[in-house]
Amino acid sequence: MAYRSLREFIAKLEAAGELVRVSEPVSTVLEMTEIHRRLLRQGGPAVLFENVIRADGERSPMPCLVNLFGTVKRVAMGVTLEGRERTTAADLREVGELLAFLRSPEPPRGLKDALDMLPLAKTVMAMRPATVKKAPVQEIVWTGDQIDLTKLPIQTCWPGEPAPLITWPLVVTKGPSTEREDDYNLGIYRMQVLGKDRTIMRWLAHRGGAQHHRRWKAAGKPEPLPACAVLGADPGTILAAVTPVPETLSEYQFAGLMRGAKAELVAAKTVPLMVPAEAEIVIEGHVLLDEYADEGPYGDHTGYYNSVETFPVFQVSAITMRRDPVYLTT
Ligand SMILES: Cc1cc2nc3c(=O)[nH]c(=O)nc-3n(C[C@H](O)[C@H](O)[C@H](O)COP(=O)(O)O)c2cc1C
Repeated sequence: MAYRSLREFIAKLEAAGELVRVSEPVSTVLEMTEIHRRLLRQGGPAVLFENVIRADGERSPMPCLVNLFGTVKRVAMGVTLEGRERTTAADLREVGELLAFLRSPEPPRGLKDALDMLPLAKTVMAMRPATVKKAPVQEIVWTGDQIDLTKLPIQTCWPGEPAPLITWPLVVTKGPSTEREDDYNLGIYRMQVLGKDRTIMRWLAHRGGAQHHRRWKAAGKPEPLPACAVLGADPGTILAAVTPVPETLSEYQFAGLMRGAKAELVAAKTVPLMVPAEAEIVIEGHVLLDEYADEGPYGDHTGYYNSVETFPVFQVSAITMRRDPVYLTT
């Protein structure tokens, strides 16, 4: 079964006993991390916190989803490969082999050989995204003075961190070239909140988004780099964003492989980018070319705090969402 949205996947997980709802009040400040950490260690379920208390002490109208991919089983459940009943560990290895092939410096002998060798290569080639005109993720649109990141239940994960952190944004960018229409990149780069309409974009230098930013600057573009942060997409698209897909392949196309159906995209409201139509929330804006800020220190998955480093500033131009969005965090 292909999931069109995060909420379809949530329903499936709940039916399978892989997700529980928590109605007790839980704070975005430290408390969620503490609970999530124990769940992760125990191989526990995904959790939908329905009574979330934001940093400002107000109850959030948006529930928070944590521990979504806390087990290999749920990762496999999130991947749908066309024509296969369910995804097994062997299937995930096959996806890995395709990736290794796509990234190899000397591919066998072009596409024909690849298609013969790797059945999944044929599928990925057929997965060019589809576009729609009207999208659930644009049921609500905040622009101008309405834009306010503090209205989202953004987590403060660890003691001593400088500001709330958007932990799981799928950051969508496109390079400056107009010839290649397919050079979309999706990557997860954490975003430190600087104010109501500004964050830092912490993409490490070798990441796809950082490369777009460099090429954009080098091309002498007068305007900053358009970017969208997608919060909560269908599981296949989320997993595609986590995957280091080579720059020659659009991550939306790879998402088609992982979701067992073409990605469904809609034009963003204020920037020239396409975003997943069935997402929960999209933050639209630009990554500035001449403004940088000190990021961190933030606790990292290594078990240590990262040192403070400088990354570019992201200026928000709109926040769009469903009428009842779920906020995905980790
Ligand atoms: C929850 C989560 C947080 C991440 N945070 C960052 C980050 O802050 N900066 C970064 O460069 N990569 C981060 N990553 C790793 C990248 O998203 C990942 O390597 C991805 O494949 C990069 O895609 P790209 O090769 O298209 O840039 C994170 C991954 C996950 C799952």
